[in-house]
Amino acid sequence: MYNSKIIGLGKYVPDNVVTNDDLSKFMDTSDEWIQERTGIQERRWIPEGSEDTSSVMGAKAAKIAIERAGLTKDDIDFIVFATLSPDYYFPGCGVQIQDLLDMPTVGALDVRNQCSGFVYALSVADQFIKTGMYKNILVIGAEYHSNGLDKTTRGRGVTVIFGDGAGACVLSREEDSSKGILSTHLHSEGKYADKLIVASPSIKHWVPEIIESEEEDISYYPYMDGTFVFKHAVVRFSEVIMEGLTKNNLTKDDIDMLIPHQANLRIAQFIQKKFGLSDDKVFNNITKYGNTTAASVIIALTEAWEQEKIKEGDHVVLAAFGSGFTWASAIIKW
Ligand code: UT7
Repeated sequence: MYNSKIIGLGKYVPDNVVTNDDLSKFMDTSDEWIQERTGIQERRWIPEGSEDTSSVMGAKAAKIAIERAGLTKDDIDFIVFATLSPDYYFPGCGVQIQDLLDMPTVGALDVRNQCSGFVYALSVADQFIKTGMYKNILVIGAEYHSNGLDKTTRGRGVTVIFGDGAGACVLSREEDSSKGILSTHLHSEGKYADKLIVASPSIKHWVPEIIESEEEDISYYPYMDGTFVFKHAVVRFSEVIMEGLTKNNLTKDDIDMLIPHQANLRIAQFIQKKFGLSDDKVFNNITKYGNTTAASVIIALTEAWEQEKIKEGDHVVLAAFGSGFTWASAIIKW
């Protein structure tokens, strides 16, 4: 049995910065409200006319990750792509990475687990490596939210939160079982699916039905019961981090770096306080990028590494919670 280790990290965000003041030009919101409730100062949105999509941004991040791993695209055995905003209803984005990077005909899998998507994808890749089936796996998280948001006051509770971007890593075989991904922990609770959802278009409500309906009846924009999601998030984040620590005989004092899903700065601060972590042990970049869903953990991990906040031997904890509900953690010995 092998272990798996992250050997290359990359990220890509569109250049186009959208500030809170920019949003208040087309909806009734304010910089003060957004910063106070979420911590977000700005986010990146793909500008009109750009060719970027989830798969295109994912490919850009992946190229950097592969190069930093010291590998080439031909060394990659498998692709796992996490997104809730795929370029197409089907096929998924993973197969487009195979094409965009001109890779051999390796397998490609899409993971549909929203904010927990990257941690789920990492867990899937980890299992393929642990069993010896694959040696190098490209794991990508990417989201193109901005084209699918309600940019009127009606959508302000959701729209101000989300941003576009992508992150990627190369997960590789590690012979030393004390290093790399020590464990992953995955959970779901489908009874709350309707608390954070894009209900249509779907097979239940297909396009002609949406066109004919009053917009209020069937919305094709994301819906979130923010307060309900918030309350569950703080509980599940804590649980799934504790689960990972306990599994590895670690305590909160062993955490060198916590990378929480960037859902809301207030959630991250709550978790930080609960685990008694100092500021240098929690990485947040929601202020700059907003919530990039499946891309958020891997963009944050990449930036923490780029800023040399993670060093060899560190215990790095990834944790996420979101639509589904789904939640997940990964305990890594860097
Ligand atoms: O990533 C997946 C997981 N997602 C999360 O974990 C998100 C969890 N939830 C949250 O982060 C927060 O619930 C939000 C940031 C979404 C909302 O914050 P809140 O403190 O829960 O506010 P609220 O939804 O209770 O709304 C409070 C008020 C309402 O007005 P009334 O009814 O009190 O008059 C809203 O209409 O704020 C109003 N409001 C806004 N005002 C200005 C909602 N959105 C906005 C806005 N600008 N953008």
